[in-house]
Amino acid sequence: MDSYTQSVHFFGRSNPEELVRKYGSPLFVYNEDILRRQMKRVAGLLPNHRFTSNFSIKTNSNLTILRIANEEGLNADAMSPGEIFVLKKAGFLSERIFYVSNNVSEEEMQYAIDEGVIVSVDSLSQLEMFGRLNRGGRLSVRINPGVGAGHHDKVVTAGKKTKFGVAAQDIEKIHDVAAQYDLHIIGLNQHIGSLFMDYKPFLEACRNFLHYAEEFDELEFLDFGGGFGTPYHKLADEQEFDIESFKKELDALLTEWKQQTGRDVLFKTEPGRYIVAESGVILGQVHAVKENYGHKYVGTDIGMNVLIRPELYDSWHDVEVYRDGQPVTGGEREVYSVVGNICESGDIVAKDRELPVIKEKDIVAVLDAGAYGFSMSSNYNNRLRAAEVLITSSGEDILIRRRETLDDLLRCFPNS
Ligand code: LLP
Repeated sequence: MDSYTQSVHFFGRSNPEELVRKYGSPLFVYNEDILRRQMKRVAGLLPNHRFTSNFSIKTNSNLTILRIANEEGLNADAMSPGEIFVLKKAGFLSERIFYVSNNVSEEEMQYAIDEGVIVSVDSLSQLEMFGRLNRGGRLSVRINPGVGAGHHDKVVTAGKKTKFGVAAQDIEKIHDVAAQYDLHIIGLNQHIGSLFMDYKPFLEACRNFLHYAEEFDELEFLDFGGGFGTPYHKLADEQEFDIESFKKELDALLTEWKQQTGRDVLFKTEPGRYIVAESGVILGQVHAVKENYGHKYVGTDIGMNVLIRPELYDSWHDVEVYRDGQPVTGGEREVYSVVGNICESGDIVAKDRELPVIKEKDIVAVLDAGAYGFSMSSNYNNRLRAAEVLITSSGEDILIRRRETLDDLLRCFPNS
């Protein structure tokens, strides 16, 4: 593929050069059409069942993006009081928010209870905490089905080697604690891990999970979690997650379960990356091109403060080069490492990539950065967090988060 962004008219009526001139660099740019397409795919996952999907907003909690998710009829899961707070600001009603809590304080748990949000607990100890705070309450328990999957050890969130969920062999104990505090377990949830292109382990985990569900009488919903993959190697023609086949197999599994057990509950999923990764691109400027002991480096403003994924997980993000508003695709090529402006040797956004010959002032576009991009960005080295822009369905560009200013760096100091 020559230029992915051009093939999908990613930048609408604008182009990377104009956008950077108007909003500065580095810049997160999102495409509304791609975002809505992915949201619709998820919302339509199980048309033959009572079904709703959460959008996992740890991937991206920009208010405008949350409002679009709300319009598309998605529910949302929250991982913290902060996520509950912004979801409410974006217009989500309490009953459409699911707090997947993990090792939270009593204050945090109480916040969710007071907000009327359904809480999932992920240990027997936090089940007891919930019982002490809310005797007779309704909640969900996160089960660890003993099967995990993911693109890196750090993002496998079930199986025998993670902190998450209550082990399946402790189900009896869940019932004991629930009885002690008159609790109603109205939901069970799981999340086996993040980014799988092969959905077989997910289906296997669902099968185990359905089996455990039979041991709970009051269930109103079952939440199978997220993790559906994104093709990060799209310039090498990596195929997208096969949602159609996944849909059919999941549908068959659930239909069979309902027939065998005579039960009918609301089914849920909670993907994040699949919904928002492909809709986001980071634009950055090339400020230096250099050679150090035989290695060529492209020095940009996309540091690890802007995108941490390559450093944290050795993640791959495709890179495109733009010059004078057009993608550079032909001509001579060179092998470069695209690096940032942060004081760490690991500050490499793309290592040893064959790219068109790059000049200062070119713009690099880092693809598939809509998920775990801005939301994991930081002020490391006192760099300012980037601005975010949306390319709307009519091709306009609108600012959806302003760039931080130097004054923002002083906001929390009492004596600034
Ligand atoms: N539900 C729960 C309970 C989760 O822990 C997660 C992600 C999700 C849903 C959404 O997973 P997704 O569909 O986005 O794969 N920062 C890493 C990924 C960490 C995932 C943590 N949990 C990355 O950049 O790859």
